[in-house]
Amino acid sequence: MGFLDKLFGKKQEEEQTMTKLNIGIILGSTRDGRVSPQVGAWVKELADKRGDANYTIIDIADYKLPLLGEAGDASGAAAWSQAVGAQDGFVFIVQEYNHSISGALKNALDYLREEWNNKAAGIVSYGSVGGARAAEHLRGILGELLVADVRVHPALSLFTDFENGTDFKPKEVQADSVNQMLDQVIPWATALKTIR
Ligand SMILES: Cc1cc2nc3c(=O)[nH]c(=O)nc-3n(C[C@H](O)[C@H](O)[C@H](O)COP(=O)(O)O)c2cc1C
Repeated sequence: MGFLDKLFGKKQEEEQTMTKLNIGIILGSTRDGRVSPQVGAWVKELADKRGDANYTIIDIADYKLPLLGEAGDASGAAAWSQAVGAQDGFVFIVQEYNHSISGALKNALDYLREEWNNKAAGIVSYGSVGGARAAEHLRGILGELLVADVRVHPALSLFTDFENGTDFKPKEVQADSVNQMLDQVIPWATALKTIR
C-alpha cells in the first residue's frame, strides 16, 4: 500500500470514528471486589467487534460522587456530566442489590438530567436470577429520565455464568443476546439523536 493510500485510509477511519455514535458502557457497582469490570470488558469486546459505534467503558467509581446534595468533594460531578453528555446511548451493567439497583448507580443517575434525556439504552444485568428485578427497577427510573430502554436484555446468572459467583465465564449463548440487544440500541440511539 502506498503512502497516499495509507494516508487516505487513516483519514477515512478518523472520519468514521467522528460520525459514529458514542455508546457508554456504564459500570453500575463501585464496591471493592466488584465483578462489574469483568462484565463490562466482555460487553465492550463484543461491541467493538461490531465496529458500529465508539464504545467506551464509563466507571462510576472514577468520579467519586458523594451522595447527591450532601457535603463532600463533588469535584467529579462536572466530569461525570461531561462523560454522560458526550454519549448517544448507553449499556448499563447492572447488578442486583436487595432486589434493586445499587445505591451507587441510583446516585449517579440522580446527579444528571438533560445529559440522559432522549437517548437509548440497553441493560446487561446479573444476580441470582439474572439481576432481573434490578433491571426492571432501572427501566422505571430510565422512563423518568427520558432514556428509551430496549427490549432485549442479557441476564447473567451468578450460578451458571460465573464460577464461585466471582469469576465471569459467560455461557456462549449470552454473547448472542448482547449482539441482539445492541442491534436494538444502535437504531434507537440513531433515531433519538435527530431530536436532541
Ligand atoms: C448489598 C448486596 C445485596 C445483594 N442483594 C442481592 C439480591 O437481592 N439478589 C441477588 O440476586 N443478588 C444479590 N446480591 C448479590 C450480588 O448480585 C452479587 O454479589 C454481585 O456480584 C454484585 O455485583 P458487583 O460484584 O458488581 O458489586 C447482593 C449483593 C450485595 C453486595
